[in-house]
Amino acid sequence: MSKTGQRGSKPIKYPELFQPIKIGKVEVKNRIVMAATHTDAVEPGGFIGDRLIYFYAARAKGGTGLIITGPAIIEPTIIGVPYLMPFLYDAAHMPGWSELAETVHAWGAKVFAQVDSGGPGRLGALLGNPNALAPSPVPIEMDPKYVVQKRAEKLWKKRGLDLAKHDLIGNEFPVPKEIKNEDIHRLEDQITHTVEMVKRCGFDGAEFHFAHGIMGANFLSPRTNLRTDEYGGNLENRTRYLRNILYKAKQKVGPDFALGFKISADEHLPGGLNVEEAAAICQYVEPLTDFIDISAGAHHESQAFMEPEEDGAIIEDAAIIKKKLSVPTITVSVHNPALANSAIKEGKTDMIASSRGLIADPEWANKAREGKPYVKCIKCLFGCCGRVDYGLPIRCEVNPNVMLEYQMPEYYRFNAPYKRTYYVE
Ligand SMILES: Cc1cc2nc3c(=O)[nH]c(=O)nc-3n(C[C@H](O)[C@H](O)[C@H](O)COP(=O)(O)O)c2cc1C
Ligand code: SF4
Repeated sequence: MSKTGQRGSKPIKYPELFQPIKIGKVEVKNRIVMAATHTDAVEPGGFIGDRLIYFYAARAKGGTGLIITGPAIIEPTIIGVPYLMPFLYDAAHMPGWSELAETVHAWGAKVFAQVDSGGPGRLGALLGNPNALAPSPVPIEMDPKYVVQKRAEKLWKKRGLDLAKHDLIGNEFPVPKEIKNEDIHRLEDQITHTVEMVKRCGFDGAEFHFAHGIMGANFLSPRTNLRTDEYGGNLENRTRYLRNILYKAKQKVGPDFALGFKISADEHLPGGLNVEEAAAICQYVEPLTDFIDISAGAHHESQAFMEPEEDGAIIEDAAIIKKKLSVPTITVSVHNPALANSAIKEGKTDMIASSRGLIADPEWANKAREGKPYVKCIKCLFGCCGRVDYGLPIRCEVNPNVMLEYQMPEYYRFNAPYKRTYYVE
């Protein structure tokens, strides 16, 4: 490999996939994004350690243009639920995050942090947290075919494990409490504070999580937002939380730092967001954002659409949304490089993102560039989603190295081609 981290003069198999692109002022070397993935690989106290740093280093070394990390948690409200996500609200959390940014940069990728917009919300209630807050007290309707649980259950049984002993998701879900107006304002300020920290840790941008039925998404969706104040009702009001966050954060971080959000194009739930409404939201909020990341579904209530079995399942909805926009769009869940290339070529998306595809093969991008075979994610959900629901760090059925990358010197920063960048306050 050359010093630039690019694979020299070898022909590029999928040229559209390897065109550089600008997100705001941030130049990304290709169209391949690691989708936000919470891994449960967090060190005690909510800190980032080597496991997470080298997990991302491997994907950056593998040619991924942009890494979007799993969520940075803006305050300790996540406590009380089994998901383990790293905190970023106190100066003590910063060294781990800045080490992560520096290491990913050393391997030639750009890095954004996903920022969780206010505790677990309805997701917390799904996980049994009696104090979970949401825009409105709408009961949880768990999908009886809850896909991750069902598939993981089968596999755990095969291995002689008693699922009941590990089951951290109960069968009764407390109705989330309605969040008060003053708490919404506090969250807007808190999330802005975390985004400032993300920037100070050396990141290139941040993504606000407004997809998958978590708190931010609950404000956007007519199904879960029944408020009658300025945060509920029409599109202007339902997008107020998102718009306030984008506006307040941009004031603090300035134009060079990219800011965007992730949205479910379709929640696939009665009365939930559909693609027309999602497109209208994106168009309305577009002046405040540098990019939009398009996904689908809602945690546990329509989870099958979040981690679909069909490759590129969201592309057609993403294309409908993209038609209305001029900022770059990212579309998740594209694993096949030929499909990724054609979706970009046909103007259906600007970038493609993958979580499971890059868990399965961190070298996916470099292999796609040269048209080499890659290790395919078999969509079993056992090692990844099937473990995080039990508070366990992810593994992968087809990649034994997941979360052991920190023990593999090939990913260490001193082997990387790029110069150090320094954290500057
Ligand atoms: C283990 C795991 C954890 C995930 N965590 C998050 C998350 O924290 N935030 C998010 O927006 N999406 C999360 N996702 C969803 C992915 O970002 C992506 O939208 C989805 O998995 C579809 O892409 P894929 O088919 O390439 O996996 C997660 C996915 C997996 C597999
Ligand atoms: S193959 Fe790996 S990444 Fe894909 S679903 Fe299974 S455990 Fe998850």
